[in-house]
Amino acid sequence: MSRSDKNPHERLKTAKGRSASSVRWLSRQLNDPYVKQARAEGWRSRAAFKLIDLDEKFTLLRNAKRVVDLGIAPGGWSQVVRKKASAAKIVGIDLLPTEPIEGVTIFQMDFMADEAPQALCDALDGPPDLVLSDMAANTVGHKQTDHLRTMGLVETAVDFAVQTLSPGGAFVAKVFAGGTDAELLSILKKNFTTVKHAKPPSSRKDSSEWYVIAQGFKGRAEPDSV
Ligand SMILES: C[S@@+](CC[C@H](N)C(=O)[O-])C[C@H]1O[C@@H](n2cnc3c(N)ncnc32)[C@H](O)[C@@H]1O
Repeated sequence: MSRSDKNPHERLKTAKGRSASSVRWLSRQLNDPYVKQARAEGWRSRAAFKLIDLDEKFTLLRNAKRVVDLGIAPGGWSQVVRKKASAAKIVGIDLLPTEPIEGVTIFQMDFMADEAPQALCDALDGPPDLVLSDMAANTVGHKQTDHLRTMGLVETAVDFAVQTLSPGGAFVAKVFAGGTDAELLSILKKNFTTVKHAKPPSSRKDSSEWYVIAQGFKGRAEPDSV
């Protein structure tokens, strides 16, 4: 099936007993060509297509050797990494359980926990050259709170990337509404050669999600020798 295929809209046979929002969600799932294609091609999530789209535009995966997948569950992005960079070491982390993926080390853990960064680095056996974050905080429906909570995750992910990436490495993160805030953007611009924002074609038009793509990590300054 081509990704542009428009299928005739399926109708929910019964909406009895479902809340309006769950009917809307189900109906959107049933009519979403990416959901159908993900199922047909064996991707665990429609999110897989977002990484495929980003990789097509920014060539992230071709030479990746060590990859961190923050917010891995259910595993679509790591499946894509496995396919496009089959020799890469991959480590992922999520609050939720993730079914095993061959060749991927998975932690069910809060990325914000103190011990998380070390656990990820130990599992990789060397510095990552690609840090991916598709993490999104559970939304509570209050726009400002949701934005702040997700930005907190992004800030921690940027910090992790800057502390661990090998020179030349890349960082990709989901950000919301209006992209990355000024302070975060200036940290990224200071540490990476190029910083861009993109909304992959597979990202829902009605979603305020965007991605920030930072490439060409400049490396950490060596501490002054005495
Ligand atoms: C959009 S999903 C990721 C989808 C994934 N990229 C894929 O392709 O299957 C976002 C994930 O971020 C996770 N997440 C949110 N906050 C987190 C945290 N503090 N630590 C680890 N994972 C977190 C959620 O549990 C959720 O599974």
